[in-house]
Amino acid sequence: MISYTDNLEGIGANSLDGFFDGWPKRPTAERHFELLKKSDYIVLAIDDEADFVVGFITAISDNVLSAYIPLLEVLPSYQGRGIGSKLVQRMLEKLDGFYMIDLVCDRDLERFYSRFGMKAAFCMAVRNYDKQAGVQDG
Ligand SMILES: CC(C)(COP(=O)(O)OP(=O)(O)OC[C@H]1O[C@@H](n2cnc3c(N)ncnc32)[C@H](O)[C@@H]1OP(=O)(O)O)[C@@H](O)C(=O)NCCC(=O)NCCS
Repeated sequence: MISYTDNLEGIGANSLDGFFDGWPKRPTAERHFELLKKSDYIVLAIDDEADFVVGFITAISDNVLSAYIPLLEVLPSYQGRGIGSKLVQRMLEKLDGFYMIDLVCDRDLERFYSRFGMKAAFCMAVRNYDKQAGVQDG
């Protein structure tokens, strides 16, 4: 059974393994836990039987007008079961009061996100690849 939560109660770095799949420099489980703690909004998908996190989505916000969704991931072996969709739906419900809700994604995910009423838009971005695993003193 997969359950969903919007807080870190009962979750630690040891509940997080296998994320940032395919990233050349993967954040450690400790960095992952830290970014979940520091995000304004999170939704986690948990495999109740295995008792670990199988998917997550984060958002950061000024809590006035805008929110940004930097990260969404479902562990590879749990993909294709609707977990990613549930995470997006639950996060969009949380962010419903804001004027702007933005995220950046590869073009092949346009169809996935458009299911939730999101529209493609142009973006500009900086990526410091040497910091991909997280800032050291963060
Ligand atoms: C994107 C992601 C979160 C979707 O999670 P999921 O649990 O598999 O999602 P769902 O089961 O709800 O939906 C799957 C649908 O998304 C589509 N999809 C997933 N990844 C896709 C990709 N890279 N390109 C195109 N479509 C994709 C699937 O084809 C599927 O479509 P279908 O319902 O028509 O078969 C997951 O594939 C993932 O973690 N990918 C790696 C990280 C990533 O790309 N995150 C998004 C960053 S912007």
